[in-house]
Amino acid sequence: MNCRPISKHESITLQGFKHACHAMLYARSEEKLFRRIPVRYAVLMQMRFDGRIGFPGGFVDLQDCSLEDGLNRELYEEVGCTLRLSDADHMCSHVTDTPQKLVTHFYTKELSLAELHQVEAGAVSAKEHGLEVMHKYAIAMGLIRVPLFTLRDGVGGLPAFFATNFIGNARDELVDALRHLRLINEERLASALKSVTNRNE
Ligand code: GTP
Ligand code: MN
Ligand code: MN
Ligand code: MN
Ligand code: MN
Ligand code: MN
Repeated sequence: MNCRPISKHESITLQGFKHACHAMLYARSEEKLFRRIPVRYAVLMQMRFDGRIGFPGGFVDLQDCSLEDGLNRELYEEVGCTLRLSDADHMCSHVTDTPQKLVTHFYTKELSLAELHQVEAGAVSAKEHGLEVMHKYAIAMGLIRVPLFTLRDGVGGLPAFFATNFIGNARDELVDALRHLRLINEERLASALKSVTNRNE
């Protein structure tokens, strides 16, 4: 896939490109898995209708609205989330020439754990969740949390998660966000990336 970083400002001057906005919602968590493994952060992604993992969000028509208005509409449709993200939450944008002319804009937003729980609980009744849709197909099959730990076998947890199938450049967005927001230490991230080869590449 031919994908490169671009500024948001430059990207909206491109002719003939579609735009899509997706967001990573996350919260600090003191929870422990098996009362032993610190969760540290709850980071949300979603199982898409096509069996791939990505972030909630979707296409935005810049003729109709701003990127952020479009993102907030998609977040409402897919996860029932009424939080409003803004330009301050924008993290990066990428442009892809093939297979389609697409600019993807990526946002991150820290919530309280209570807010994040509310998003998780509300997601099942979102308009485009599962099979309860008036759409041609289900868009979002459910929210998932990214396991940020690695189990003693060296595979379970984040390495196994990295080996699953991601949509577009969602996996790179996840890695960049974990790194830039310091949600995980660099060594653990690097070893998780190394230990399992991603089948998408
Ligand atoms: P429709 O209801 O079919 O219009 O879907 P949508 O508006 O929800 O769009 P979707 O979320 O599928 O995103 C649009 C395009 O962006 C997809 O076709 C993918 O190529 C790409 N995409 C989807 N999810 C992600 C993601 O998490 N990150 C990135 N970078 N790209 C994504
Ligand atoms: Mn959508
Ligand atoms: Mn979507
Ligand atoms: Mn859409
Ligand atoms: Mn579509
Ligand atoms: Mn739709």
